[in-house]
Amino acid sequence: MKAEKLEKLKQIADVCTKCKLSTTRTKVVFGEGNPEAELLFIGEGPGRQEDITGRPFVGKAGELLTRLIEKAMGVPRSSVYIANIAKCRPTEDLKMEKDRAPDPEEVAACSPYLLQQIEIIQPKVIVTLGNPSTKFLLKTQDGITKLRGVWADYNGIPVMPTYHPSYVIRNGGENSKVQQDVWNDLLKVMEKLNWKPKVKITWK
Ligand code: URA
Repeated sequence: MKAEKLEKLKQIADVCTKCKLSTTRTKVVFGEGNPEAELLFIGEGPGRQEDITGRPFVGKAGELLTRLIEKAMGVPRSSVYIANIAKCRPTEDLKMEKDRAPDPEEVAACSPYLLQQIEIIQPKVIVTLGNPSTKFLLKTQDGITKLRGVWADYNGIPVMPTYHPSYVIRNGGENSKVQQDVWNDLLKVMEKLNWKPKVKITWK
C-alpha cells in the first residue's frame, strides 16, 4: 500500500540527522497529499510557516499554489501530492531568518527521500516548481526560464517545469505575465491527465 510505505518513509525522515538543517529545524516537512495522486508538485524547501506547521506550501507561496490547484485546476489540494527537495528549512547562516535554496550537500542528503516518494506514488505527471527541483530532477544546468512549459521526462514520468509561486509573487503576482505562463503550463498538465478545466481563467 502506497499510504503505508509513505508513512514508513515519513517516520524515518522525521528523525533524520543527515545534514546540518536538522540542527535548526522545528519540524520536518515530509510532504502531504493523496498517496495515489496522479499529480505531484515538487518545490524547493520549507519556509517559516512550513517549518512551524510541518506542512508544505502553507505560507504566501503556498496560498498561491493552493489557489492554482483549487480555483484554476478545479481539484481539491488534497487530491494531489506536494513535496519538496529539502525537507527541513534552509536559511542563510542557519539563523532561521532569511530563506535560501538548499545547498548541494543538503540536496545530496535529502533528495533520496524525494526519489523514494516518487517511486512509491508513481504519479502520472510531475510539476517541478522553480530552479532547484527542476535542475535536480532533470539533471540539467539550464534555467527555469528556458525549461518551463516544455515537457521533460524523469524515468518515464512526464515532467512539466514551471515557475515557483514565490517567483510569481515577486514578479507581479496574480494577473502578471508570469502567472499567465504558469497557468498555460498547468493547462498542458491538465490536458495530459485528461482533466477538464472547470472554470475559464483569464488572468488579465
Ligand atoms: N516554498 C517551497 O519551495 N516549498 C514550500 O513548502 C514552501 C515554500
